[in-house]
Amino acid sequence: MNDIETILRLDAIRKEFGVPGTSSLRLVLSGLSLTVKRGESIAITGPSGSGKTTLLNLIAALDKPDDGVIEFRGRNLAGFSSAELDNYRNKSIGLVFQLHHLLPQCTLLENILVPTLANNDKSKRAFYLQRANELIRRMGLWEVRNQYPGTLSGGECQRTAVARALINDPDLLLADEPTGALDQANALKLVELITEINRADGKTIIMVTHSAEMAGRMGRTVDIGTL
Ligand SMILES: Nc1ncnc2c1ncn2[C@@H]1O[C@H](COP(=O)(O)OP(=O)(O)OP(=O)(O)O)[C@@H](O)[C@H]1O
Ligand SMILES: [Mg+2]
Repeated sequence: MNDIETILRLDAIRKEFGVPGTSSLRLVLSGLSLTVKRGESIAITGPSGSGKTTLLNLIAALDKPDDGVIEFRGRNLAGFSSAELDNYRNKSIGLVFQLHHLLPQCTLLENILVPTLANNDKSKRAFYLQRANELIRRMGLWEVRNQYPGTLSGGECQRTAVARALINDPDLLLADEPTGALDQANALKLVELITEINRADGKTIIMVTHSAEMAGRMGRTVDIGTL
């Protein structure tokens, strides 16, 4: 059924990996199903090795399931053309990792603009710059916007990574332990910004976390270790 409120539907996802140096396979996800409504905020929890990052990679179309269906807005990702997949990865999905993965040779502002470089339309540059500046203000980064990642704190880097993930106005924000490398105060600040993005902008959030406290800030928790 194609429910207009369902942004993402995973049905009976199976994923296995070859164990390096052997001929055996490791079953990581076996029959995982998950329906995500537009505007939800979901924490993904589970023990180390249970397949949380694997799951985000599948949702982001960075990897393919061995079996099962992933539908985005009612369309099976397996049926996307390569141009549609590029567009999906670049525009529909925003990704934040445990370690920020900022480019060290670019300033904070330039890093936020990197995902817009795929758009060659010069007339949109002013629009993106304005949007980047809005995000920078919102993330509390205005004073440090021209600094390089090497001169920023961990919390500032992570907030920059969130702004970068939002620059193309994605439908889905996927975050893989975004607070894992932060102290408690910075972790809370980041999660508050993420929940604000969910509440104020209606963005759908899927956040992997090991912290029960951070998971509690999301609308619901899916523990893939017990599915
Ligand atoms: N490309 C790969 N090749 C082989 N095995 C892999 C590959 N990617 C992941 N795995 C294995 O799949 C399992 C799940 O990995 P994954 O990174 O999804 O776990 P995780 O739940 O994110 O763990 P953590 O909490 O430690 O980040 C692990 O046993 C891992 O070794
Ligand atoms: Mg992981």
